[in-house]
Amino acid sequence: MRFGSTVGGTRFPAAGSFGDASYRALLLQDCGSLVPEYALKWPSMQYGSARQGYDFSGADDVMSFARDNGKAVRGHTLLWLQHDGLPGWMSTYDFGSNPRAGAERLIIDHITRVVGRYGSQIRSWDVVNEAIDHNTGALIQTPLSRAMGSPEAVIDLAFRVARSVAPAGTQLVYNDFVSWEYGHTAHRSGALALLRGMRQRGVPIDALGLQSHLGIYWVDPSTGVVSREEGPWRAFLDSVAGLGLDFLITEFDVNDQALAADIGLRDAAVAEYTRAYLDLMFSYRQTREMLVWGMVDRYSWLQTYAPRPDKAAKRPNTHDDNYASKPMRDAIAKAFAATSIRAARPA
Ligand code: XIL
Repeated sequence: MRFGSTVGGTRFPAAGSFGDASYRALLLQDCGSLVPEYALKWPSMQYGSARQGYDFSGADDVMSFARDNGKAVRGHTLLWLQHDGLPGWMSTYDFGSNPRAGAERLIIDHITRVVGRYGSQIRSWDVVNEAIDHNTGALIQTPLSRAMGSPEAVIDLAFRVARSVAPAGTQLVYNDFVSWEYGHTAHRSGALALLRGMRQRGVPIDALGLQSHLGIYWVDPSTGVVSREEGPWRAFLDSVAGLGLDFLITEFDVNDQALAADIGLRDAAVAEYTRAYLDLMFSYRQTREMLVWGMVDRYSWLQTYAPRPDKAAKRPNTHDDNYASKPMRDAIAKAFAATSIRAARPA
């Protein structure tokens, strides 16, 4: 199985982890695959308030680094349907007198351009990211879905175009933050309904990407047990596996929100939680790759997204700010060692 990590960009929004030679050394040491954190997102390449040309410079930098060092690359993401996932200009874009055709043209043009540019260097794409409203489980409406008549029309078209322009064997993934925590019941039902519908409509999809942004939001004070819903989670995974889809862990990290500040205890609890999750996920032979959303705490998106109540820095990743490996890395290595050998797909 392959292990990998995300890597920040060189230019937008800031130099980030990619500009750090020690961080790059960690990637080279531990990773078989890399995924750009934002460089391949549509708003990163076609920014600005009016539609203009593409700026591929940030993505090109990461792609050259991966190529020079023989790392596989996952593409993230062709269409991000959560708020802010589409370019800013799209909210006021004029889709023309035939809005459906106008939206189709945009999607076809974008996917053809981006997939075409990197060709066989990207063997796995998050074609669509986060299409579901977390609270209701319904598909999210966007300017594209309003122009095309339904969110399904957008999603189906994206996968069909990706299949037709990507090199044969490219893995096409629907990626989502649906998870085993409490509060995901509607989200799990919505994700399953989406995937079932895609299968029924003959949409080309190969795998479900599970972001795996795990959260320690509540700990039982008497037992120290971190809350999660393993039964419903397994039922969900069983149903998705029954559709013939593979799984990937695409953006693993642990938000230590509810743990006391003590670093030793925090790291131990995070490692234990990591191991429990991976043992469950790796028990499915459909799980074929794992990527973490960063390898050094300092660069984690979680530092700014929902800070801890005590404002202490979070410890969501495998290595601390001095690049020393933490118990989480050990937990991941042990979970890999304990599971059966299986090949990442595509090889
Ligand atoms: C996040 C990045 O980590 C941030 O740097 C960026 O500003 C916003 O996006 N789910 C996803 C990722 O699919 O693309 C998100 O990445 C984290 C949540």
